[in-house]
Amino acid sequence: MARISGETIDAVNQRSDIIAIIGEYTRLEKKGGDWWGCCPFHNEKTPSFHVMSDRKMYHCFGCGKGGGLINFVMEMEKVSFVEAVESLAKKSGVEVIYEGVVDNAQIPRDDTRDKLVELYNRVAGSFHFCLTEAAIGTIALEYLNKRKVDPAIISEFKLGYAPADRRWLYGFLRKKGYSPEFLAKSGLFSKKYPEVAFFSHRLMFPICDRRGQVIAFGGRLLEGEGPKYLNSGDMPQYKKGETLFAFDRALAEIRQTKSVIFCEGYMDVLAWHQSGIKRAVAPLGTAFTAEQARLVRSFAETVYLSFDSDSAGQKATYKAILLCRQAGFEVKVVVIQNGKDPADILVNEGPEGLNKLLDFSIIDLDYLVSCAGKVFDVASPEGKTRASAFMFPYIEVLESDIQRESTIQQLSAAFGISEKALLSDYKNRKQGYSRNDSSGNTERAIPQSRVIKRTAEMRAMLAAAANPGLFPLMRAKMTSDDIEDPNARDLYIVLEECFRTESATYESLLSRCPDDSLRNLVTSTITDGEFAENAHKVIEDGIQYVQKNTLERRKSRLVARMGLYRGNSPEDLRVITEMMTEIQHVVEELSKLKDMNE
Ligand code: UTP
Ligand code: MN
Repeated sequence: MARISGETIDAVNQRSDIIAIIGEYTRLEKKGGDWWGCCPFHNEKTPSFHVMSDRKMYHCFGCGKGGGLINFVMEMEKVSFVEAVESLAKKSGVEVIYEGVVDNAQIPRDDTRDKLVELYNRVAGSFHFCLTEAAIGTIALEYLNKRKVDPAIISEFKLGYAPADRRWLYGFLRKKGYSPEFLAKSGLFSKKYPEVAFFSHRLMFPICDRRGQVIAFGGRLLEGEGPKYLNSGDMPQYKKGETLFAFDRALAEIRQTKSVIFCEGYMDVLAWHQSGIKRAVAPLGTAFTAEQARLVRSFAETVYLSFDSDSAGQKATYKAILLCRQAGFEVKVVVIQNGKDPADILVNEGPEGLNKLLDFSIIDLDYLVSCAGKVFDVASPEGKTRASAFMFPYIEVLESDIQRESTIQQLSAAFGISEKALLSDYKNRKQGYSRNDSSGNTERAIPQSRVIKRTAEMRAMLAAAANPGLFPLMRAKMTSDDIEDPNARDLYIVLEECFRTESATYESLLSRCPDDSLRNLVTSTITDGEFAENAHKVIEDGIQYVQKNTLERRKSRLVARMGLYRGNSPEDLRVITEMMTEIQHVVEELSKLKDMNE
C-alpha cells in the first residue's frame, strides 16, 4: 500500500480551495469570516454546516460530522485516503510523493477506475459516431426522429448506437491496444463470452458523473425481442443507486432555480431538456434512493415529480413523495393527462406542453388527497379509515409538528373526519410505521457516532490537538503507554505521528484520526475555540494527572507483586528489598508531584 508523504498532504491542503471544492456539493454562503450551508451528510433545511476557509475545516452542528478537506472528499466520493489525496493533488497541481519509495514512477497504484472512465468515454464517442456519421446508425437515428428528439439533444447527450455485430466492439478495442484482461473486467462484454458485447443494436445513453465523464451506459431496444432497456451494472466508477442520469447537465439550472425535476426514464429527461427545462434528472433502472435525493438536496429545495401516468407511475410517485419529504424537500407533482409520460407530451404538444405541465403542477398533499378520493370511498366510515391510513406515512415523514397539524386540518376537511379522530387514529397507528420502513427506502438516519467521554486525559489531548505547538511539552513527560483512556491514547498517537512527520496542520491531524467520532470531537473542539486561552494550563494539568496515575499504577503493581514473595530465602529477600526501594522511589516522585501542585 502506498503511503503519501506528509509534505504532499500539507501541500495539497495549502493549495486547495476548500470553499470551491465543498461548494461543488452544497451551496455555501459567506457569513462573517466563515461559510455556511446545508450539510451534505444529512438532510436539513437550515444551514448548520460550517466551513472555515482559513483553517480548511468543516463541521456540522446538526449531525456532528467534521474534519478536513481530505476527509470531506473521502466521505463524499467514497474513496480511500490515498485516492482522496491523489484527486485533490491532481486538481491543485501538486505532485504526489510516496513515502519509503525511491522511484515514485514505479509505484504500483490501482488506476483501474481512471482507465475505465477513459474507456467509457472513448466507447461513448464511438457509439455516437456510429449513430450520427455511420450508415449502420440509420435505424437508430430514424427512431429518434420519430420520437422527435432534436439533433442538438443527440449531440448534447452524446447519444449513440451500439452496432448489431456483437463482436465489433471487441475487435475495435483490441486494435486500439486494450488488453483482453482489462476488457474482461470492463463491464462492456458478456461474462460468459468475453468477445461478445453486452449492448448490441441498441440506442445508447451515456451515463455521466457530475463532471460529465461517461461512467456507464443504458441501452434501449430498437427492434426484436429482449428487455426494453439494458443498464450497466455497478462498477468501480459507477454505483447506480448513487448516480442520476443527466445530473451533470442539470446541475446549473438546479442550483439557479433551487428546484429539480425527478422523472422516470431516459426519454423523459431528454423531453424536458429539449423543452428548455434543463433541471430534469432520472434514476437508472431502479426506484429513487435516499442517496440520489441527497445528491440534489444541497442545491434544491423543491422537487417536481414527473412520473408516468399509469398505475406503476402512481405507485412510484407515492413512494417518491415520502422519500423526498423525508429528505426535507418541498414536493410538487406534475400531473400528466394527455399521454403516458413527458416524452409523449413532447411528441403530442411540443415544448409548450411541458412548460404548461410544470406551471400546473400541484402540491404533493393535494395530489395524495385526490388519489385517496379516487381509490377509496370516502363517504363510508370504512373508506375514511383506509383513506386516512393511506395518508399516515406521509404525515409521519413531515418535518415539523406544525406541518403535521396543518395537514391533519386539511385531511379533516377533505375526508369529512374530525381533526380529533384523525389525530388519535394517527397516534394509535403510528407505532405501526417506523420512520425508515414506511417508504421502503434505505435512508440513513443521522449517523449515530459513539460518544467519547471527555476524561481528564482526553481534555489534555484535545488541548494539545487544538494547539499542536504545545505537544512537545507533553511528549517530553509521557508516552502513549502511560495513558489509560483508550480514546485519549489514540489521539496521543495521532499527535505523535504528526510531530514525527513535522506536519502540524489540522488537516494532517484530522486525516490521521482513526475514526469519525474522534475526528468529529477534535474538529468541534478546535472550532469552538475551547482551548484558545487556557491550553497551557490544561495540558500541564493533564500531564500531571497522567504522571500521577502512572506512578500510582506502578506502585500498586509493585505492592501486589511483593505479596507473591514469602521472604524466607535469600533470593526472595533480595527481590523484596529491591522492590521496597523502587516503591520508595515511586512514593517520592508522587510527593514531588503533589508539591508542584501546591
Ligand atoms: P419506461 O418504460 O417508462 O421507459 O421506463 P422510457 O424512458 O419512458 O422510454 P420509452 O419512452 O419507452 O422509450 C422508465 C425507465 O425505467 C428503466 C429505464 O431507466 C427507463 O428509462 N427501465 C425500463 C429499465 O431499466 N429496463 C426496462 O426494461 C424498462
Ligand atoms: Mn416512460
